[in-house]
Parts: sequence; structure tokens; C-alpha cells
Amino acid sequence: MAKRVSLTRYLVEQQRVDGLIPGQLRLLLEVVARACKSISQAVNKGALGGVLGSADSENVQGEVQKRLDIIANEVLIEANEWGGHLAGMASEEMDAIYVVPNRYPKGEYLLLFDPLDGSSNIDVNVSIGTIFSVLRMPEDDRGVDEGDFLQNGAQQVAAGYCVYGPQTTLVLTVGDGVAMFTLDREQGSFVLTQENVRIPADTQEFAINMSNMRHWDEPVRRYIDECLQGRDGPRNKDFNMRWIASMVADVHRIMTRGGIFMYPWDKREPNKPGKLRLMYEANPMAWLVEQAGGAATNGRQRILDIQPTQLHERVSVILGSKNEVERVTSYHSTL
Ligand code: AHG
Ligand code: MN
Ligand code: MN
Repeated sequence: MAKRVSLTRYLVEQQRVDGLIPGQLRLLLEVVARACKSISQAVNKGALGGVLGSADSENVQGEVQKRLDIIANEVLIEANEWGGHLAGMASEEMDAIYVVPNRYPKGEYLLLFDPLDGSSNIDVNVSIGTIFSVLRMPEDDRGVDEGDFLQNGAQQVAAGYCVYGPQTTLVLTVGDGVAMFTLDREQGSFVLTQENVRIPADTQEFAINMSNMRHWDEPVRRYIDECLQGRDGPRNKDFNMRWIASMVADVHRIMTRGGIFMYPWDKREPNKPGKLRLMYEANPMAWLVEQAGGAATNGRQRILDIQPTQLHERVSVILGSKNEVERVTSYHSTL
């Protein structure tokens, strides 16, 4: 019988056999996975658990918070604050950083997350998820402040997401490729279901919110226009389109069968670089995609090389199958 590998065993092997991760990081990832399991339970209960609907509050980005945004945020904080593996946390749903209270030991890692991605899909029973990024606390730093979090994405030591869909799937990288784990609800554990995930370099499927077309910049307009011309246009092939409106679910599809995802800068809010947030949406996804052989840029630069200046800063995102991402990126330099 094929051996069944739990997340715990996978992480122990990454630590002990391959020496890829320290013990504290293994504990951190186990705790994040446990938190995702309980968020998954809450998501599954839906209306029966009273978790749907608005919370009648706004986050720092001026977005109305859903009950589940707040529940997921609390679950992640409560699960992670006491274990001694973290110095601080940052979340889409919290204005300021969360410093681990003094009553708990402080660890050497920083955890950043989008507790619930795809909020507009919660009430309509469409896939949503949690996205997370792990950084190391800068050395010789005694107090934790926002500046400690402002590291570029290339500094991440772990990144992942958990998608709550027909299955609950945790997707993880510690810099040694991408692995996927499916939640076995009877056993209550994540089981390794795919290792060495690879995104094909070519694709005929794009994901973008087409309703914003009139606001796009020229390079994005040119790329999509060429896709839409299909077999009769310069690409000589037909393209398919998908837009779930949960980045986590769109990226998961790309991890599974390739594709390109774009949430570019547009003219609606010209002073903002994009809609998605760099530190806890774009960076972890960009690293996962690169680890699976794909690419991720903001049109001009590799996302992982962007030096953040603010915790909640936004970024234009183009990620997925390498050849397509490179094509859109090249359109930015030629136009
Ligand atoms: P969040 O729910 O964390 O605010 O993120 C939603 C994001 C992302 O998941 C998705 O790709 C995008 O917003 C959808 O935006 P539109 O509704 O503009 O298509
Ligand atoms: Mn999000
Ligand atoms: Mn969110």
C-alpha cells in the first residue's frame, strides 16, 4: 500500500531528514495548518454556524468586513500567539501589527496573512481561502515594530494558502518546491496529495476582471485583446477565460493546470498601484508560483524584488505560466 504522508510527517522529514527547516518553523506551519482546519470548519457550517453576512465594520483599507473575515483573523491570532514561535503578526484585517503579548515567549518569526481571501464569495458558497507569508525577525532587534515586516518577498522562509472549496487544500512552500495537502475530515489531518507541483510554461487560459477593461493600461489591453482574437489573431490559438474573484481559488487553478492571473493597476484609482496587497497576498502567491516554475511581476519588476514601504501597500499583479507572464511584462517595456 502506498504510504500515506501527513503534513506532520512531511514537515518532520523536511526538518530532520532534509534539514530544510528549523524546528520552530515546523511548529509554526503546524499551527497555521491547525488554524486553517478550524477556519475550514466555520466555513463549512455556513448559515448553520451564523458565520455569514457582514460584521458592520470596516478594515484599514475601507472595506466592509464580513463576519468570517473577523472570525478567521481571530482564529489565526489565537492559534499563533502562545506557541513561542512568533515575535509578531500582521493581517489584512488589522490596521497595525500585532506584537506577541509579553506573557508569552517570543520567537524569531513574523507571520503575515490575509485571513479570508475572496470575501465577496463567502455568502454565495464559492471557494475562498487563507493566504500566509512567513518572514524571519531581523537579527539583533529587540522590539518588534512595523519596520521589521517591511522585507521584500525574496526574504520569505515559508508561504502558503489554504483553499476552502469542494475540498480543503493546503498548499505550501519552504523554498524546496510546492506541495499540496488535502484535509481528511474523518482523520482531522492534512494528507500529502501532490509533491513537486509544476505550472506549465504555456497556457490558453487567462483570469482577469473584464469589467474593468476600459480602465486598463495599454499593455494589459493589448495582451487581452490579442487573446480575444484567438485563432484569427497574432496568437494563432483560442483562449479560455476564468474569474472566480477569490485570488486563492484562481491561483489554485493555475497551480493545478496553468494559466495567467492579472489584477493590474487601472485608472479607477490611479494613485494606487493595484488592488491586491503586496505583503500578504502578492508576495506569498508570487513565491509559490515561482517555486512551481511560473513567474510573477507587476509588469515592470519581479514581485519578490519589490521593497515594501508600508504594511498594507498594494501592487499590480501578473502571475502564472511563465511564457505568458513574460509576454505581458515585455509589453510594458515596449509600450
Ligand atoms: P479580499 O477578499 O481578501 O479583500 O480579496 C479579494 C481580492 C482577490 O481575492 C480577488 O482576486 C479580487 O479581490 C476580486 O476583486 P474584484 O471583485 O474587483 O473582481
Ligand atoms: Mn484577499
Ligand atoms: Mn481578505
